[in-house]
Amino acid sequence: MIRAAITAVGHFLPEDRLTNADLEKMVDTSDEWIRTRTGIRERRILWDKDKATSYMAAEAARDLLRKRGIEPEEIDAIIVATVTPDMFFPATACLVQAAIGAKNAWGFDLSAACSGFLFALSTGARFIESGKHEKVLVIGADKMSTITDYTDRTTCVLFGDAAGAVLLEPDTEGYGLIDSIERVDGSQWDLLCMKGGGSLNPPTHETVDKKMHFLHQEGRHVFRYAVAGMADVSAEIMERNGLTGDDVRFLVPHQANLRIIDATARRMGIGMDKVMLNIERYGNTTAATIPLCLHDWEQDLRRGDNLVLAAFGGGFTWGAAYVKWAYDGDTVARTATAEVAESA
Ligand code: UT7
Repeated sequence: MIRAAITAVGHFLPEDRLTNADLEKMVDTSDEWIRTRTGIRERRILWDKDKATSYMAAEAARDLLRKRGIEPEEIDAIIVATVTPDMFFPATACLVQAAIGAKNAWGFDLSAACSGFLFALSTGARFIESGKHEKVLVIGADKMSTITDYTDRTTCVLFGDAAGAVLLEPDTEGYGLIDSIERVDGSQWDLLCMKGGGSLNPPTHETVDKKMHFLHQEGRHVFRYAVAGMADVSAEIMERNGLTGDDVRFLVPHQANLRIIDATARRMGIGMDKVMLNIERYGNTTAATIPLCLHDWEQDLRRGDNLVLAAFGGGFTWGAAYVKWAYDGDTVARTATAEVAESA
C-alpha cells in the first residue's frame, strides 16, 4: 500500500512585525485584551505592495527544495491553499511554478480558508497514493493583511501573513497520511467571508465604500462552531484509529485562538506540552498555520511520531488528519543548516 509521506517542510515569514502595542495605536484595543482573548502578541506583515501570496509561497517552496536537496524539475504537482491569491486567475500555483522553475509540474489553487492546508494535504495525497505522482508540493499561503481592515478592531488584531510548504512522496512502510476527515457546511457562510470582488458583488465604488473587499467575521458565533468542530473531528479521528492521548506525540492545530486549541487538546486528553503553538508570534495566518507549526517543531519530530492535524475555518470548513511522521527532523534540519553555512 502506498501512502503519502511528508518528507520535507519549508516556510516563509515576512520580517516586519506588527505587535499588540502597534495595534493599540491604530484601534481601540489593548495588549491585555488581545493576549487573553486570543493568545496573540505579534504577527508578521508583508507590507511590500509588489510582493503577494505567490512570492511567499515560492519562498517557502525554495526553502523546502533546498532542505530536501532536490531540483524544481522533479516536482510533479503544486497545490496552493489560499484565500488571498495574487489574482482570480491565473492560479497562484501557476505563478509559483514559474517562479521556482518547476517546469514539469501542473497545479491549482484550493480555496478552503483556514482548513485549506488540510484539504490540500488530503488532495495531494491522492495523487501519491494512486501512483500517479512521486513528488507533490502542498503549500498553504496567505497575505491576510491585504484583506484586513486596519480600522476594525474585531478582526485586525487576529491575522498575519506567511507561507508554509510540505513535500509529499510515496512511502510503503506505513508512514505518512494514515487517515483524514474533511467537512463543510455552507449554510453559515456569512459568519466568516469576504463579500466583495467575486461574481456576486463585482468591484464597484459602492463595494469599496461598503468595505466589502475586507474579511468579515462574526467572531463570537464562529468561536462557538470552531470549538465544537475542531474538537469533534480530532476526537473522531483518534477514535477510529484506536489512538489514545498517550499515543499522540503532537496536536498540530490551526492557530486561530488559544482557547479553541485548548478545548481541542482537552477533548483529546492531551496536555498542552503536546500541542504545537505559535499563535503568540504569528497570529492567524489562515492556510499557513499548520505547515508553519511543522516547520517550527521539525527538529523535535521523530520517525514514527503520531500527529493529529486539525483546523476550522470560513465556509464553514473543518477537518483533521492523522499523520505518522516519516523522518527524524533533527538530522534534516541540521544538514540543511550545515549546507547553508557551507555555501555562504
Ligand atoms: O480562523 C478561522 C476561524 N476563526 C476563528 O476560529 C475565530 C473564532 N473567534 C474568536 O477567536 C473570538 O470570537 C475573537 C477572538 C474573534 C473575539 O473574542 P470573543 O471573546 O469572542 O469576544 P467578543 O467578540 O464576544 O467581544 C467581546 C467584547 C465586545 O465588547 P462588548 O460588546 O462586550 O462591549 C467587543 O466589542 O470585546 C470587544 N472587542 C474588543 N475589545 C478590545 C472586540 N475586539 C476587541 C479588541 N480589543 N480587539
